[in-house]
Amino acid sequence: MKHLFKKGINKGGPTLLLLHGTGGNEHDLLPLVDMIAPGASVLSVRGNVLENGMPRFFRRLSEGVFDEEDLLFRTNELNEFVNEKAEEYEFDRNQVVAIGYSNGANIAASMMYHHEKALNGAILFHAMVPRREVQLPNLSNVNVFVGAGKRDPLIPFNETKELIDNLQKANANVTEYWVEGGHQLVREEVEQAQAWFNEHY
Ligand code: MLT
Repeated sequence: MKHLFKKGINKGGPTLLLLHGTGGNEHDLLPLVDMIAPGASVLSVRGNVLENGMPRFFRRLSEGVFDEEDLLFRTNELNEFVNEKAEEYEFDRNQVVAIGYSNGANIAASMMYHHEKALNGAILFHAMVPRREVQLPNLSNVNVFVGAGKRDPLIPFNETKELIDNLQKANANVTEYWVEGGHQLVREEVEQAQAWFNEHY
């Protein structure tokens, strides 16, 4: 998968796994690292599915309707990719915190839904429920920050609540933060994510 890796100066801390939104690339979320965890090592990945030329992390059938088979395949592929890169770049595989926005947050959530040890934590900006009617693994020791918009036209309020509920029932330690706006990522929630990160890592 296309990606970039930056070794941080902060040796003991987690490596950040950056996952962009639809149409983005591995450079998009780098400014968030400067705000949330400057000095952290970063593995930033480009989604390898194209939708009308726009990179994504998995296929969808229509807006908000995911191709489940592809989602599962890509989730496993990304998890395996992180395993390999941890060896190659010599970072601690058990200390990976994802930062995902929209489509990237959805695949980060999917990693947690399907793999017990995929992520040590995650910042999910404007995420959906990746899959329904699946048993989540035990996510105790996993910290999750959920940033959501009260008026997000793509993600109904109850869907975000369902995501939070699923994660909490799997024992994840979830912090939610709601902004007044829609699907767009705003500075206020990034600042909240920074405070959350400092508290947990
Ligand atoms: C998705 O397909 O993952 C969501 O609809 C978010 C998006 O990428 O627009």
